[in-house]
Amino acid sequence: MIEAKDLTKRFGKQLVFENLNFQIPDGEFISLIGPNGSGKTTLVKIMMGLEKKTSGELRIDKRQTIGYVPQFRNIDLDYPLDIEQFVRLNLKFTLSPNKRREDNKLIETILEKTKLTSLKNRPLGLASGGEKQKAYLAQALLNDPKILILDESTASLDVEVKMQLMDLVKELNEKYNLTVIFITHDYELTKKYTSRALFFKNKTIEEVKVDNISEDMFEMGS
Ligand SMILES: Nc1ncnc2c1ncn2[C@@H]1O[C@H](COP(=O)(O)OP(=O)(O)O)[C@@H](O)[C@H]1O
Ligand SMILES: [Mg+2]
Repeated sequence: MIEAKDLTKRFGKQLVFENLNFQIPDGEFISLIGPNGSGKTTLVKIMMGLEKKTSGELRIDKRQTIGYVPQFRNIDLDYPLDIEQFVRLNLKFTLSPNKRREDNKLIETILEKTKLTSLKNRPLGLASGGEKQKAYLAQALLNDPKILILDESTASLDVEVKMQLMDLVKELNEKYNLTVIFITHDYELTKKYTSRALFFKNKTIEEVKVDNISEDMFEMGS
């Protein structure tokens, strides 16, 4: 469970948002929507402990780990790691043979889960957009997170590929009761995959049930 009470964030004099009040129960697939600059990334950074709140409370069960999948960015063709090596970047280095065996097993499981097993030796630079995002997803799953944050992770992917990635995330959400926080500007995906949206508007949020989510909530300007 994630719970915010009167959560407020300022950068210096700039108010980003104030008095956010919401709860996200375990296992929910929820979206954060609203214009650019409305504070979506700032909120998830506060959740991850990467940014300080100004006032109010944000409670996240201490034992809950968070995985983060960034926005799609292209990777140089000559990027030196293959998909498996890239996923392994998040492992802690170890000299213990036992730990190494465990790590290998873990990597194998994660590659299965994300349907990357047959692609594991493909250089990341030569992978498709969807495969790259799956590699980031695999990396984010490495520490067995209870919460997964997708920060515009499907932006600039083809429709088909977006759906594939989201189907995979939905599968993980249902199988492992993973809480998913999906930051997006995509109306169709929000309707199809999420149960509720936190809509950032006028420096605060509205909680919107999926049936009441409308296209005009996705206008990009602020
Ligand atoms: N580290 C920072 N220092 C100062 N201002 C910031 C910082 N990070 C974000 N902001 C500002 O906070 C506002 C919200 O940004 P952000 O959370 O990135 O919005 P969103 O993800 O909804 O597009 C923006 O006006 C942005 O310029
Ligand atoms: Mg953002």
